[in-house]
Amino acid sequence: MIERTDRVGSFTLPGTSMTVNRMGYGAMQLAGRDGNKLVWGPPGDVDGAIAVLREAVTSGVNHIDTADFYGPHVTNQIIRKALSPYPDDLVIVTKVSARRGEDGSWIPAFSREELIAAVHDNLRNLGLDALDVVNLRSMFSIHEPAEGSIEAPMTVLAELQQKGLVRHIGLSNVTPAQIAQARRIAPIVCVQNQYNLVCRADDALIADLAHDGIAYVPFFPLGGFTPFQSDTLSEVAARLGATPMQVALAWLLQRSPNILVIPGTSSVEHLRENLQASRLQVPSEVIADLDSIGGGPV
Ligand SMILES: NC(=O)c1ccc[n+]([C@@H]2O[C@H](COP(=O)([O-])OP(=O)(O)OC[C@H]3O[C@@H](n4cnc5c(N)ncnc54)[C@H](OP(=O)(O)O)[C@@H]3O)[C@@H](O)[C@H]2O)c1
Repeated sequence: MIERTDRVGSFTLPGTSMTVNRMGYGAMQLAGRDGNKLVWGPPGDVDGAIAVLREAVTSGVNHIDTADFYGPHVTNQIIRKALSPYPDDLVIVTKVSARRGEDGSWIPAFSREELIAAVHDNLRNLGLDALDVVNLRSMFSIHEPAEGSIEAPMTVLAELQQKGLVRHIGLSNVTPAQIAQARRIAPIVCVQNQYNLVCRADDALIADLAHDGIAYVPFFPLGGFTPFQSDTLSEVAARLGATPMQVALAWLLQRSPNILVIPGTSSVEHLRENLQASRLQVPSEVIADLDSIGGGPV
């Protein structure tokens, strides 16, 4: 059953004074109209998007994930409208290294000029003097981590950090080799890759990052644009008196203490449902059932 108290607590990004609640919020779903999987243009209901963000923060979320290429620019502008002046403890994590084509496509934007422009776009649209955390999003393959040197773009981000425009650096869509390469250039506070009940390629990486105190922030925690539909998940949820999405999030939060979740939603109702997952204990006897959804135990 869902308990009354938040069980999952907080996490301090390594080498920083930034402590975030492990239950965060991903803002990508705020761009585009209902059902628009392109993350393109303004939302159908701007006031509704603002309401989601404000309710997230008043409910204790102090970690919001975004990018200036959501919309493009739209999501950051809505975050600013909804939340600026920002609460002192709010950590906004953005990402760079992609831009959008006129057709909504996602285009690598890894050059020095493009990275500098992206940081300034984020600063302007969020209304900030410095970005809390910037994830360098690898684009050697758009949909999954793929090998390739990230030395040059990491060096640019490290310079921007030295100039004070970027407080901390994270990585996204990366391989262990790229993480190691980046850490030789600047400290890395978080890694954001696709990971969820079904997509378990990073099981070993999560343990390695936990060992080094680095946050792991799974994107598509609910399965992404088409959330999970699994009989096993539904059966477990029914047994626990919870919803399938709550179980998927609670499983992630129990999976490792360095996991921070950023479920995305454009709906206040779904937001409320998702936030309740931090109060849900998934008993050990059903973890094996949930592991079977992804093909086996860790
Ligand atoms: N680094 C990267 O490459 C990358 C890639 C993708 C995403 N991200 C980040 O990760 C965050 C999370 O990923 P995501 O938003 O794409 O996917 P997600 O969190 O896995 O799922 C979002 C989808 O689930 C639906 N949903 C949310 N809560 C629900 C609920 N309680 N019941 C039923 N449906 C629900 C949403 O629709 P409704 O709006 O109708 O609730 C939306 O369609 C993003 O917001 C973004 O910040 C990063």
